[in-house]
Amino acid sequence: MMHVDEIAGAVAAIHARKECVTASIDQMNFYEPVYIGNLLTLKASVNYVGRTSMELGVRIESRNLKTGKIAHTGSSYLTFVALDENGKPTAVADIIPETPVDKRRYDEAKERRARRLAAAGKN
Ligand SMILES: CC(C)(COP(=O)(O)OP(=O)(O)OC[C@H]1O[C@@H](n2cnc3c(N)ncnc32)[C@H](O)[C@@H]1OP(=O)(O)O)[C@@H](O)C(=O)NCCC(=O)NCCS
Repeated sequence: MMHVDEIAGAVAAIHARKECVTASIDQMNFYEPVYIGNLLTLKASVNYVGRTSMELGVRIESRNLKTGKIAHTGSSYLTFVALDENGKPTAVADIIPETPVDKRRYDEAKERRARRLAAAGKN
């Protein structure tokens, strides 16, 4: 889970070009066990940008180095907020989803954001 937060934070900062903090982590689903000796690969994408916040999706894959089998181990969605030099939330450049996959992720992330903020009493 530490790796998930770290890669999402790194990708958020690369997009925002600003310091970013974790505002929330959605539920974490584990689909397959990871065994000692497996090679973990984490992939993160910016799915949606609000004004100062971004939703990052992280996919974890583990490879059995003996068999080569790759398993989808887990996934999570995280929200990061960009901060200015005074530590206050600051605007982030928007994203323009282009591919069908980008558009699906964008639309789904927008719905998750609405549910997330409602659950947090923010909307
Ligand atoms: C995240 C944080 C900066 C938000 O501050 P805030 O005063 O609530 O700021 P705002 O109300 O202006 O909201 C800023 C953005 O955060 C989003 N946000 C706030 N709380 C959120 C939550 N619980 N989940 C998801 N997004 C959230 C808002 O939707 C807003 O996004 P938008 O600009 O894209 O619409 C503040 O709560 C904070 O500093 N938290 C601690 C972060 C931290 O230390 N993380 C590391 C944990 S180890």
